[in-house]
Amino acid sequence: MKPADVKKYFSIYEKERKIIDRKLASALKQRQPSELYEPASYILESSGKRLRPLLVILSAKAVGGKANQVYNAAVAVEMLHNFTLVHDDIMDNADLRRGNLTLHKKFNLNTAILAGDSLLAVAYEFLLKDCKLNAREALSSFTQGLVEVCEGQSLDTEFEVRKNVTLEEYIEMIRKKTAALAQMCCELGAYLVNGSKQDIKALSDYGKYLGIAFQIQDDLLDITADKFEFGKRIGGDLMEGKKTFLFIEALSKAKGQDRADLLKVIANKGIRSNQIEKYKRLYEKLGVIEDAKTAIRNYTDKALNSINKLTNKTEINIFHWLAYSLIKRNK
Ligand code: IPE
Ligand code: IPE
Ligand code: MG
Ligand code: MG
Ligand code: MG
Repeated sequence: MKPADVKKYFSIYEKERKIIDRKLASALKQRQPSELYEPASYILESSGKRLRPLLVILSAKAVGGKANQVYNAAVAVEMLHNFTLVHDDIMDNADLRRGNLTLHKKFNLNTAILAGDSLLAVAYEFLLKDCKLNAREALSSFTQGLVEVCEGQSLDTEFEVRKNVTLEEYIEMIRKKTAALAQMCCELGAYLVNGSKQDIKALSDYGKYLGIAFQIQDDLLDITADKFEFGKRIGGDLMEGKKTFLFIEALSKAKGQDRADLLKVIANKGIRSNQIEKYKRLYEKLGVIEDAKTAIRNYTDKALNSINKLTNKTEINIFHWLAYSLIKRNK
């Protein structure tokens, strides 16, 4: 891709991100009780990448719509995403999110549960404002995305205590917990501006494969990222005994003492923070960091093959730019 194009697409992202940030900052203002909405604003206004709103906007534009037909829907998907983050951090015992204390650490558990619930409810309010065309399809897609996130999160939790999770089962788990939302965002943007069936399918598949690549990379960053850039605790997945891409690949390759060390993670339901470095070195030794990078590239290629089926060929490049930018991300 030409440097001039990279610059152009990045500036489109920056422009839309700023618009979304402003809308998110004002979305919960004036609402009472403040005991509910202040904590909800705390997470909503912290600095996320705003990937999901961007997918809604780009998808709408890709099929001939305008961004201002879907801004409320874009706000809605970010609210839905933030709801999943708040509850995910409770389930994952996470202290840090986007460089700040997680909601349940900053406030308390009940406040975090309810702030999450309110984000989900208000998300529907915002979505309804943009449901002028294909309202039924849009609402159904949004709801299915949410149902799949819950199912994926349930699998993620169940896998923690299981020894024998296959790579296939893992991919299905992340397809639900992460990719279903990205897929929904792409469908939603296109539905709301009346995109064609064929284009919606191309966008939907793009979102799904991009989401799978995204979660494998999230697993990778969990161990390789810089703490300050990442904004989450490094090694958190190992501390919680998560069946990540890296862990499953490592267990399938390791022998002898290495295998025994990995099985200890499951038996002990996770490791202590002073062991993170040791396991990182084991991952490197077994080559699973490279395996993860290969898998990310493969799923990204699948995403790009899908988006190439879009009718309007001039709209395809920004989706390529986005997929490559996500591979290069450090948070
Ligand atoms: C975090 O999502 C949750 C995952 C599905 C891995 P992001 O990495 O998009 O988080 P923010 O919104 O940019 O903070
Ligand atoms: C994210 O998985 C899944 C969600 C549905 C939020 P993770 O648990 O890996 O996400 P992070 O790493 O905490 O953001
Ligand atoms: Mg988590
Ligand atoms: Mg989790
Ligand atoms: Mg993670």
